[in-house]
Amino acid sequence: MGTHGDIHTPPNYDGLIQLKRLYLQSVPAGSIAFDCLVPACQVDWGFQDHLYNTILAKDATAYRPAQQYTRRFLKFLISSLERNLAEDEELHDSILTLYSDLMSKPDSASDATKPTFITYLLPPIQSFSKKDTQVVISERKSVLSADGHTGSRTWEAALALGEFFLFTPPSISKPISECRILELGAGTAFASILLSKLGAKHVLATDGDERVCETIQTNIGLNTHTNNISVSQLLWGPSQEDNFIYTEPWDLVIGGDITYDTRDLSDLVHTLKKLLETNKGASSKAIISATVRNEDTLHEFDTSLSAVGLNFEVKEVGESERRLWYYGSDTPIRIYTIGSR
Ligand SMILES: C[S@@+](CC[C@H](N)C(=O)[O-])C[C@H]1O[C@@H](n2cnc3c(N)ncnc32)[C@H](O)[C@@H]1O
Repeated sequence: MGTHGDIHTPPNYDGLIQLKRLYLQSVPAGSIAFDCLVPACQVDWGFQDHLYNTILAKDATAYRPAQQYTRRFLKFLISSLERNLAEDEELHDSILTLYSDLMSKPDSASDATKPTFITYLLPPIQSFSKKDTQVVISERKSVLSADGHTGSRTWEAALALGEFFLFTPPSISKPISECRILELGAGTAFASILLSKLGAKHVLATDGDERVCETIQTNIGLNTHTNNISVSQLLWGPSQEDNFIYTEPWDLVIGGDITYDTRDLSDLVHTLKKLLETNKGASSKAIISATVRNEDTLHEFDTSLSAVGLNFEVKEVGESERRLWYYGSDTPIRIYTIGSR
């Protein structure tokens, strides 16, 4: 039997899961509050060992961020560890070795434009299987792809939509597990993949751009535990009215950051109207999250919805509702819940 002094008090590693979440999302290292996530002035070997094994070791994650990102992350991490080292403690060998290995590997010129794996760690929720607590997306951080579309990165509105489904059960007539869900303008299909992991009956991710749809197929493949999700090309508006999607039953239509271009709004509203009218009997709803870059654009969206007889409620996404992932800015985001009268 040990004495009181022998009892092992577990060290406080609470910040590590958040540090891992930020690392795997490739959040700009200069924006990470490292000193708040490592124990102040108590960093010992055990903590660093745990940090290395949970975040940095090869088997800590299926898809590591790009090497130039990891190098910069380590630079900031090491300075924070140095500042907070407990007395007589040293920096961990494995962390220093990884950093010096990365320093000696040059980046190729094409690295900056290559897609990278972004892993969005999910919160511990019962409906996720233990092996499947993340959404992995191959994305480019640039705003526009070389082909001029906006679908090669995950936008903040999609993250907000994800957090909305994780934390605010939407007022829909069925549980998610019984819902057939259609995503419009899915981009990387982050929200579709998340909803498929939340156990939706089926999710169809659509986008008007063929190349974007090919990447969605890749992203679905990166998330191996999902077999209730597929992809199809759909351009909004009357030009594709014979698309099979309009004859299928949908309980929920979703979209993230698809209301930014006034030239597309009437086509988008046309598609929403058609989908919600067809599925009126099932009390289907559309949940669209919109980044407020321009009030006039959203005002035009509101007016167009009312003009075709769709009713809607709008909820602002508050600071406290952006709790899991990094959003990069505090630009307002609104969530529309739209239904047919
Ligand atoms: C800003 S991105 C948002 C992507 C994703 N929902 C997100 O939030 O990360 C807009 C997406 O809508 C798609 N899109 C734009 N206009 C469209 C249209 N008329 N029909 C179908 N998709 C369209 C684009 O190809 C792009 O993938």
